[in-house]
Order: sequence, then structure tokens, then C-alpha cells
Amino acid sequence: MNSPAATLALVRPEILALAPYSSARKESKGGKVWLDANENPATPHAGAPLLNRYPEPQPPELVARLASLYGTAPDGILVTRGSDEGIDLLVRAFCRAGHDAILITPPTYGMYVVAAGIQGAAVRTAPLVAEKDFAVDPAAVIGAAGPDVKLVFLCSPNNPTGRNLARADVLQIVDALAGRAVVVVDEAYAEFSAGESLVSALPSRANLVVLRTLSKAFGLAGARVGVTLAAPELIGVLQKILAPYPIPTPVVSAALAALTPDAIAAARRSAADLVAGRERLAAALLRLPYVRTVWSSDANFLLVAVTDSARIMQLARAAGLIIRDRSKDVPNTVRITIGSPAETAFALEVLSRG
Ligand SMILES: Cc1ncc(COP(=O)(O)O)c(C=O)c1O
Repeated sequence: MNSPAATLALVRPEILALAPYSSARKESKGGKVWLDANENPATPHAGAPLLNRYPEPQPPELVARLASLYGTAPDGILVTRGSDEGIDLLVRAFCRAGHDAILITPPTYGMYVVAAGIQGAAVRTAPLVAEKDFAVDPAAVIGAAGPDVKLVFLCSPNNPTGRNLARADVLQIVDALAGRAVVVVDEAYAEFSAGESLVSALPSRANLVVLRTLSKAFGLAGARVGVTLAAPELIGVLQKILAPYPIPTPVVSAALAALTPDAIAAARRSAADLVAGRERLAAALLRLPYVRTVWSSDANFLLVAVTDSARIMQLARAAGLIIRDRSKDVPNTVRITIGSPAETAFALEVLSRG
């Protein structure tokens, strides 16, 4: 039942039937004189390598390093412009405008609803349980996933609450919805968590997709490199609707530089430092008189409940400290990203004035 064929049957039929654009770089490899893509023979910008040429649609070296980083096969990987593009591609591949729906578990990351809105897909909800530290309720998700729901977005660690969803709960949802819906687990913040990634569950579950990114733990938010991990058949569908040359050449260079063994080790050390900073900041915030709750976090930010979020936002803004009001998601809360030790010390000094 949980076969690639059963998952492919959920894809929009017109996408399955679509003949994708066949770019010059896809059609011909090798050779020594390239006159097939209407490129300019010269690079007018000295020092910029090969910018007169279109990039590889999916640069093999980058795909190979990401496959090794996540412990998966290269054909189960799609590199996109941030994981935001992965979200968009999934909604476009599975949801027919005016017919199909996604399901989200609020409070959660805002782009799932935006991508659905752009595609004309409805949004169903099964809220996280606030009284249980924002745990997911598998029975509620499975119950709310009616026949029109093609995609379920779960975010773990979740933004803005910072908590991991329990692995057993996620797998219960994935298994219950096999052949009915695809479950997308957004792991943008996984490197800051001690929990096991759902990537290890991919081989046995064709209706599971995992999203990762180099924007957070690898510090490359400006480069826009996201990774969609899924069964090769599903990656093939997403490849059909991906733009012809999505990853610019300078971005490939930046990502390759961030994925050498030394750079990966440095990113891991930096993530560990941020986690230690997170715990110190959480303890310090709890001592402030107006702080009601600091939820324990598996990410690089803290969700903090205060007596009056508008007052804290104003206090912060006046001092030049930019934090995020999340009161629309969870009443009277602010979200604080863990910065450098100096940035965190500044944040604490400002917030202590309240
Ligand atoms: C949960 C979650 N998913 C995805 C993203 C987008 O990441 P990317 O920079 O890879 O597009 C973010 C960004 O904040 C996020 O919080």
C-alpha cells in the first residue's frame, strides 16, 4: 500500500501527463564546443567562473554531497531555491485548484498557507495541543484528512513553538495516510535538535517527504539552498515542474564550500554553541518578572510568553532590538532567535529593562 505507485496516483493527472521543458544542459553532456544554449562565449565579469554558461539543473557534485550529508541516495534528492520552493513545488504537484486541500497543524510556519493560496488549494487544520507543549494529535490529523487533503505539512522542530513533534506520532500519521495523502515533514531546524531525523524513515514510506535547508545551521540563508528528500519517483515528478536552471552558479560554489568535511564539522560546532546559548538565554529570561513561559526548544529560537507582548515589542524596537511578535499564533508571545553571544547579551540587557 505504501508504494511509490500509490503515492504517484495522488499527483495531479495533468502534471503526470506534462512533457517537461528539456533544457540544453539536460539534453547534452560532455563535448568540447558548446553552441547549443544560445549562451555568450565570453564572461565579461572577470573573476566570476563560467557565468556565461547556464548552470547544471541539479549540480551532480552538490547533490552527491547533500546525499552523503543526509545519508540518502542522490536520486532521492531535489535541490531548490530554499525549502520554500520545495513547499511550493509540492503544493503545485499535488493540489488541483478549487478541488484539493492541504492540512496544517497550527501554530506553524506561514508559507504552507501562502503556497496553498497561490495554488487555489483549501487549507484544513488540526491544531497542535497547547496544553501538551504543542504536541501533534495524530487522531485529529488523521480525522481531519478528508479525501480532498493531498498534503499534510508537519514541522519538526516546529516554527514558532520550537518543539519537536514526537517521531512515533509523525510515523503514525504517515502510515495511516499511505495511499491517501503525502506527509511533508519540514525539518528546517533539525540540526539544533537531539531528535532523530525522519530521513531514516524514507526508504520504507513512499508517502513521506522531508524538507531540509542550508539556511539555518549552515548559515546560508542568503544563498537560498533547500533540499527535498523523497522517493525517487516523487522527486522525478517535482523535477518536471522545477524551473530549468534553478540553482545559480555562485550559489553552487557557496553551497559546495559549506559542505566540505571541515565546513560541516564547523557548522555542527556552531549549532552546538547556539544550542548552549539557547539554554542560557531561556534560563535568564525565566528570571524576568513579566515572562510567563519559555517553551523548551529544539530549534535556534525561543518562544516566550509574556504578560504584554505589545509592550515588550515596543521596548525592544526602541532599543534597536528586532524580535518577532508571534501573538497572532499564540497569544502574548514573542519569538527570539539565538544570535552570537554578544547579540544574545544585548537582547537580554534590553529585555531586562522591562
Ligand atoms: C519551518 C521553516 N521551513 C522553511 C523555512 C524556509 O527556509 P528556506 O530558507 O530554506 O526557504 C523556514 C524559514 O524560516 C522555516 O521556519
